[in-house]
Amino acid sequence: MEETPRLPPNALTRQEVQKPFVNIVVIGHVDAGKSTMTGHLVYLQGAIEPGTVRRLGKEAEMMGKASYRYAWIMDKLKSERQRGISIDSKLRRFDSNYYHVNIIDAPGHRDYVHNMITGASQADVALLIVSAEKGEFESGVRKRGQTRDHLQLAYTVGVKQLIIAVNKLDTTDPPYSQARYDFCVEKTLLLAKKCGYDADTVICLPISAFHGENLTKPSDKMPWFKQWMVQRFSGSASGKTLLDAIDNIDPPIRIEELPLRIPVHSVYKLGIQLFREVVDEGQTGDNVGLQLEGVDLNDIKRGDVCGDAYDDPPQKVEHFTAQILVLNHPGYIKKGYTPVIQCHTTMVSCKVVDIRERTDRRSGETAEDFPVSLSTGQIGVVDLVPTRPVCVECFFDYPTLGRIVVRDMKQTVAVGVIIHIEGRTMLRDNLKRENTDWSAISNWMSMNLRTMSGKISRRTMLASRHSTRLSLRTPMDGTRPKTRPKTRKHRDPTRSGVERTMTDHRASLYDRQDLAIRPQRQPWGARTFTTLSGKLETEL
Ligand code: GTP
Ligand code: MG
Repeated sequence: MEETPRLPPNALTRQEVQKPFVNIVVIGHVDAGKSTMTGHLVYLQGAIEPGTVRRLGKEAEMMGKASYRYAWIMDKLKSERQRGISIDSKLRRFDSNYYHVNIIDAPGHRDYVHNMITGASQADVALLIVSAEKGEFESGVRKRGQTRDHLQLAYTVGVKQLIIAVNKLDTTDPPYSQARYDFCVEKTLLLAKKCGYDADTVICLPISAFHGENLTKPSDKMPWFKQWMVQRFSGSASGKTLLDAIDNIDPPIRIEELPLRIPVHSVYKLGIQLFREVVDEGQTGDNVGLQLEGVDLNDIKRGDVCGDAYDDPPQKVEHFTAQILVLNHPGYIKKGYTPVIQCHTTMVSCKVVDIRERTDRRSGETAEDFPVSLSTGQIGVVDLVPTRPVCVECFFDYPTLGRIVVRDMKQTVAVGVIIHIEGRTMLRDNLKRENTDWSAISNWMSMNLRTMSGKISRRTMLASRHSTRLSLRTPMDGTRPKTRPKTRKHRDPTRSGVERTMTDHRASLYDRQDLAIRPQRQPWGARTFTTLSGKLETEL
């Protein structure tokens, strides 16, 4: 993902503003106006100089694509501009009144859904853009439309706050039609509910991204729109514009206490990325760029995970068990089926080696031991073997690294959570072998990553799942932290989920409306859990 160039000189850095931060992913069907909305909003909030926008406007006009002037703020690749679609997720920053916002513009085209998933896995809030234009709305919400697909995926990767913006209201008949807006909201909310969202907490509002209506200032074109209002755990909130909606986001829950985990999004040689705000520490939820020394560019790839070398470093996983809900499979999922699994930023083919059980959707009890197959609508527990070792985690240990999406033939086949992992290779032996010369600056390299848990500072010693020992830019005198490696026992899968989660500091995470956890006897003697949402169970 491309990182924001430096904020304009008058913009304050995060440390100066002292605002809380939030990551928003912009999702929706192709051509709904996601990039136009993001570009225009970022511009209105002063994070882009007016000169740049004027220049882009001229360039777009010359290419005969004047309507893409704001989208081009986000879409910078030649192929994106020629085709008029976004390909990768891109990150921009701006300040709302209350938050320091990282906004991630995801691609809508179905060929690039994997990039959308990576973008969504880094977000706290989803902003769904639907086009009110005749025909466009309908194609987004139909069975294979991306409005539906993206909602499901965002929910699955753990984005539980949702804002729905109905866009292109200038194109309706009559322009800015209330009837069309109401129609679009009703249909979209229904979909959101099916995917597990609680309709009372979803903010819905009308906008025109291109004309900048109702983005940051109330629009006089839509006098019928009085306000949006939501009821949440934290109380009720109301407002009128999209910016109000962003200001009223519930502060995201972040798991600071856990050991560090940062999945790598992209890797490149230093030099490409010229500007960045230099900080001393990254917290959970931050999108950070790291400069590393002593590592080869080819040693690290998207999908790798960095962690603290002295505190439960990430490990390779060669075999894991997941509980999945089959959403959409034309036939049956049987042993030997090898779909692509997406988890945080990684994408890997995994073979189903065993189906341990079929779970009853209502009671969460085992409905059938070792069934031959699973079909659409069923929940089951499957053993998966990735074609190459990956770094994933058990959902109960690191929720953000334990959610999976099963994809095949460009469609989401199933979603689920990892409930047990096997074949974790400990890195500790490798850690003894120091292959980094701490004082020498060699092989500088940068990465873009999002801290999923824990904190990172300049003195953190990183270990990636590739047994290479990495270091964050250490002090030039070559001193090292004095901490001894902590031994953290691998968590015992036979412990009851209830016992653990009730006593656990993360309990609050699971208490929230999305997860119902029930302990359950398994045929092989261990205990495991049912974690799919009650809503998904009853409504899908
Ligand atoms: P992908 O990233 O490819 O999924 O598309 P996108 O959702 O980012 O859409 P994009 O912003 O590229 O806009 C697609 C087209 O819709 C462009 O021609 C925009 O000018 C147009 N568009 C976006 N918002 C509005 C709007 O509010 N009104 C009108 N009339 N057109 C709009
Ligand atoms: Mg786009």
